[in-house]
Amino acid sequence: MADGSKNQANIIAVMGASGSGKSAWIKQQLRAGKPAALLVWDPQDEFDEFGRPVSNMKELIAAVRGASPEGYRLVYKPGNAFSTYGPKFDIFCQVAYMANGGCVVVDELGDVTEPSRAPDGWSILSRKGRHRGITLFGAAQRPANIDKDFIGNSTLVHCSRLSYENDIKVMANALCVPADEIRNMKADEDTGDFDWIERANKSGAVRRGKLTF
Ligand SMILES: Nc1ncnc2c1ncn2[C@@H]1O[C@H](COP(=O)(O)OP(=O)(O)OP(=O)(O)O)[C@@H](O)[C@H]1O
Ligand SMILES: [Mg+2]
Repeated sequence: MADGSKNQANIIAVMGASGSGKSAWIKQQLRAGKPAALLVWDPQDEFDEFGRPVSNMKELIAAVRGASPEGYRLVYKPGNAFSTYGPKFDIFCQVAYMANGGCVVVDELGDVTEPSRAPDGWSILSRKGRHRGITLFGAAQRPANIDKDFIGNSTLVHCSRLSYENDIKVMANALCVPADEIRNMKADEDTGDFDWIERANKSGAVRRGKLTF
């Protein structure tokens, strides 16, 4: 299991189509890991059970600055105006990196990165965060359309159902499994079948499972 606890530094790439179970799986990791220090980028208003909602960047910075090193749980809401996400996300990442340690969740990376555009704050957080003991979850619906280095730099890749052929190919490559295995994964609300495949990049170990609620 991916461990969201403070003692295990991890970069976790969580990829899957809309409704395939990414957020549900991340929430399960947070409930299990109970990180004492947590920062969430929450564009879809889904993570309030894990911390204090904050929608003002100055307030976020002050809350992290004023907190004891391991004692904040903040859920940042960037709002609905996509055009404002760029600078907000850059600052969010810088705050997360400076906080030193703890767990950071970025839901919907597709909003804020592209294959050819990784904001500076994000680059530093995702490449160097592990050296600061940061556990970072980054989720995306379209792995072919996000920062191209993130999946390769991750320590764990967790993948649920994908719809687009480009995404299936990217993830077959990342997980080192046949594309058909990814193509055949289910995400079915009616039957409650939510398949996933994950690969631990250090060991190369691949595991398969289903979300259970
Ligand atoms: N506690 C639960 N019990 C049963 N089903 C659940 C529970 N939590 C989530 N689900 C179901 O899991 C499915 C996946 O939802 P989730 O929000 O994790 O998708 P997602 O991959 O994050 O999608 P998106 O990219 O749109 O955010 C949904 O169909 C939802 O109804
Ligand atoms: Mg989600």
